[in-house]
Amino acid sequence: MLLHLSTWSEITDYLKRSKLVVVPIGSNEQHGPTGLLGTDWLCPEIIAHEMHKGGSEVLVGPTFNIGMAQHHLGFPGTISLRPSTFIAAIGDWVRSLAAHGFERIYFLNGHGGNIASIEAAFSELYAEASFAKRPAGFSLKLANWWDLPGIKELVNEMFPTGHGSHATPSEIAVTQWAYPDHIKRAGYSPEIAGTGPIREAADFRARFPDGRMGSHPALATPQLGGEIVRVAVAGLINEVAAFEREKNPLA
Ligand code: NI
Repeated sequence: MLLHLSTWSEITDYLKRSKLVVVPIGSNEQHGPTGLLGTDWLCPEIIAHEMHKGGSEVLVGPTFNIGMAQHHLGFPGTISLRPSTFIAAIGDWVRSLAAHGFERIYFLNGHGGNIASIEAAFSELYAEASFAKRPAGFSLKLANWWDLPGIKELVNEMFPTGHGSHATPSEIAVTQWAYPDHIKRAGYSPEIAGTGPIREAADFRARFPDGRMGSHPALATPQLGGEIVRVAVAGLINEVAAFEREKNPLA
């Protein structure tokens, strides 16, 4: 079930069956010469929507598609929040969902740069309850799609070299599978991009001139992307079910 294609009365009925919602979350940022700007929000959205297309009854919320991308602002098309804005916005998404009765909110993340701030947002939300000496009323979970069961092994096997950490062939393959009409080609020099630290946008662009970090995106194919999505969906279904079964000691 997709929240944005449902009515309020359908959500009322859903809440009688389940208190769980999956929220894809990512970032809109440059992904090298051939990676789509939406890659980091498209990947979790593609996986969550594929779970829905497979017949899952789990509710999938709208994709939170702008995240922590300040270091990519040297490349046109990148849109970023600062950490404080991102943390505040996650807080209001969770408070909105919790106000309706959602008790388990599962964020399926597509961007490594989001992790620290999502965790900080969770801590802010739990702190509100702790300082008020009341139960939070909800449990939050962060899962990166590349950490879903079986994905690391599969990706290591597919891309023993040239995977890297940004504009990776695995994430680009996933978007190629889902959007075959938007596959881009370019020459790469060097074939495998360099690695290094992440600082501000000017430093990033000087250090990583075409936007890649340690990756060789030409290794991506739509077929490999389809395999990754299949394994990710199976993992997501299991992880979400486990989260829903988790005991609430206050109940
Ligand atoms: Ni990415």
